[in-house]
Amino acid sequence: MDKFVIEGGKRLKGEVTVSGSKNSCLPIFAATLLTDDACIIRDVPNLRDTNTMFKILRSLGKNVEFEKGKVRVTSTKNPINCIADYKLVSTMRASFCVLGPLLGRYKIAKVSLPGGCIIGLRPVDLHMKGFKALGASILMESGYVVAKAPRLKGNHIYLGGVFGSSVLATDNVMMAAALAKGKSIIEAAACEPEVADLAEFLIKMGAKIKGHGTPVIEIEGVKHLHAVDHTIIPDRIEAGTLLLASLITGGDILVRNAFSHHMGAFIDKMQEAGVNVIKTEKTMRLQPKKTLRPVNITTLPYPGFPTDMQAQMMALMSVTPGISVITEKIFPDRFMHVAELNRMGAHIQREGPHAIVEGMSKLLGAPVMASDLRASACLVLAGLAAKGKTSISRIYHLERGYENFDLKLQALGARVWREKE
Ligand code: UD1
Repeated sequence: MDKFVIEGGKRLKGEVTVSGSKNSCLPIFAATLLTDDACIIRDVPNLRDTNTMFKILRSLGKNVEFEKGKVRVTSTKNPINCIADYKLVSTMRASFCVLGPLLGRYKIAKVSLPGGCIIGLRPVDLHMKGFKALGASILMESGYVVAKAPRLKGNHIYLGGVFGSSVLATDNVMMAAALAKGKSIIEAAACEPEVADLAEFLIKMGAKIKGHGTPVIEIEGVKHLHAVDHTIIPDRIEAGTLLLASLITGGDILVRNAFSHHMGAFIDKMQEAGVNVIKTEKTMRLQPKKTLRPVNITTLPYPGFPTDMQAQMMALMSVTPGISVITEKIFPDRFMHVAELNRMGAHIQREGPHAIVEGMSKLLGAPVMASDLRASACLVLAGLAAKGKTSISRIYHLERGYENFDLKLQALGARVWREKE
């Protein structure tokens, strides 16, 4: 296992390019199960999670080639195996998204339940509700979900849950409905740009979908989907993390391939904190007007402030003098980074779904441990800002979602390197 070692205090400078979105491409890979034709997907980041999805597709009988960001998924001579194995599905929740396409196309799917995860309970009741509404029978068998339907039938499906809409449930049900008989309407659908990107991919395959990117998605089922060539949207969470790396080090970097129109809530909070946001269609840059002000943040489904940026914002607020309150409304237990930031001298108190941050002028380097993907990004930001040396163990969490992050930061002047644990 590798760890990151960071010598903090270097101001980042230069230009960096954001990779394709992890959360966009994972369900898009699952969607390739909807056709036998070749699917080409471009701007795919080389990550642990994308590689896990390749393994799953191969285990189901697809052929996957990956070279320089271009993925080509084709059929093999073998029939598709409709069973997605526990070992693979348990390592990554997004792999549950193969259920919708398998069910829609092959009438049966047996997919392991993804299980819990460090950021809290992560049920799949909304996925099930959607499949049942489309006419599938669902059984639980030794930790597997077994879904069957001779042919799915379109229906009106309300997909809102206790915490609002669900990204992967919307993806899963939309993929199943693409080949169902008749019209489906998903109400309280997730509006995330990654859901809209999947819909665009399906439309290029011949699906009839309207309203994606809004809470009401209409899908007119078709009999057949075909070959597609699609470029993934840039990763808005990586863009936000890099911009915060610049800000927290007092640096000035230009982030290329950052779609500011996907980052409204983040931009709003930056402006409230006293930062000048300079943006073009595909680039962003942050320049603080004077000293930063603390801001309160509440995570919400898109277009609200993304839960996937909560931990990174907490790192920034830890070094912004004043009090800020961070409220987590999507995953109320997503606060594993609090104790680690406090090890670095931050003053953060957790109270239920709130974290009260008393910003300090400096953090001090310390050995810390990454607990999940975004918590590891938060600790990298804290390490970049801290005085002295920070070592972050279990950095494999970061590798699930950030492509070459150490190399990108090094190119911007950061003192960060890998060591064996
Ligand atoms: C996706 C993202 C993840 C992000 C999250 C929220 C991918 C691969 N992952 O995860 O990075 O943090 O959206 O923006 O795209 N819920 C239920 N029942 C369900 C499904 C979800 O109650 O059947 C709840 C969840 O526990 C959570 C909320 O709904 O409280 C939103 O979760 P959801 O949008 O489903 O997250 P994911 O799609 O798993």
